[in-house]
Amino acid sequence: MSDSSNRARLVHHEVSPTRRVSGVIDDAREGLLQPPRVLPPKYFYDDHGSQLFEAICDTPEYYPTRTEDALLAEASAAIIERVAPDHLIELGSGSSKKTRHLIAACDAAGVTPRYWPFEVSSQIMLDAADTLMRDYPWLNVDAMSGDYTGGLANLPLAEDGGRRLFLFLGGTLGNFEPDAAAAMLDEIGALMNPGDALLLGLDRVKDRHTLEAAYDDAAGHTAAFNRNVINVLNRELGGNMPEAAYRHRAVFNEDAERIEMWLIAEHDHEIYFQALDAGFSMQAGEGIMTEISRKFTERAIDELLARTDLAIMSHFEAPEQAYSLILATRA
Ligand code: SAH
Ligand code: TRP
Repeated sequence: MSDSSNRARLVHHEVSPTRRVSGVIDDAREGLLQPPRVLPPKYFYDDHGSQLFEAICDTPEYYPTRTEDALLAEASAAIIERVAPDHLIELGSGSSKKTRHLIAACDAAGVTPRYWPFEVSSQIMLDAADTLMRDYPWLNVDAMSGDYTGGLANLPLAEDGGRRLFLFLGGTLGNFEPDAAAAMLDEIGALMNPGDALLLGLDRVKDRHTLEAAYDDAAGHTAAFNRNVINVLNRELGGNMPEAAYRHRAVFNEDAERIEMWLIAEHDHEIYFQALDAGFSMQAGEGIMTEISRKFTERAIDELLARTDLAIMSHFEAPEQAYSLILATRA
């Protein structure tokens, strides 16, 4: 398949938010200038960050990727048979590698949906689209660039009455606080007609050692990924945060059932951001929380879904309850 015919099968949309989304200036002003210092996760994923995330997925410690991959390999045929989608719509699709199991299952079943990846990181999405279109000559891709925290109502989805299968994989919903996670599921539900479905990947609570290792691999890719946020801030805000002054820390907060990613200052220093015309001082040992990744018990999954307009159709569980794929529909 040549490049030009690939291009004819690809449409690239820019998705505008349905509500005001905070940008890096507001997020830094609100989140960084005074403690508790926190940042939203979307700043991890510049082009370099997306590459580092791919490296994380290949580490022996980061079990979620290979566990979800194996589950999808097993369950995709049943999911596709059940939903027979005309449209596959994926939030935070990244490299779309695991999605290939679903597309392969479509191929085998003679089901030929359009694929609609939605990403804040455009380049990795467009590269993934190219590879998929090369491998599946029937596949048309509508790549959507935007920020899913800005709402989903402006997604340029086809209003053709076709069946929609939404995908939200990788445990990424775990990066949302509980209220925001339920709200996100309801936004997806609002786009669902009878017969449509959501396939949701959620990581499960397990022993602390396994969890913390997954977010602190020995080769240091996760540490580099976390610290890359410092470069993003310096670039976007004209800042002078010293990357070398921070170390990566991942800790399982057992009460909140979540991994917390921190950047911990190793010595006292002053930071200034031109774009804010403001700065702050960091003391040795002080931290910035850059990400949460919630881990679910079966009961927490039920509680999450019970708060939403969605109901569980099927639950595919990895060995030792290590990971869950939930197939849900509008209640
Ligand atoms: N689904 C892939 C990637 C998971 S990592 C997997 O399972 O391996 C989370 C993905 O969500 C990244 O590709 C990141 O670029 C994207 N993302 C993060 N915040 C986003 C936002 N606010 N809007 C859209 N995409 C976002
Ligand atoms: N969605 C992924 C997760 O929560 C994102 C992720 C993996 C991540 N490793 C990370 C985010 C390290 C920040 C730091 O598992």
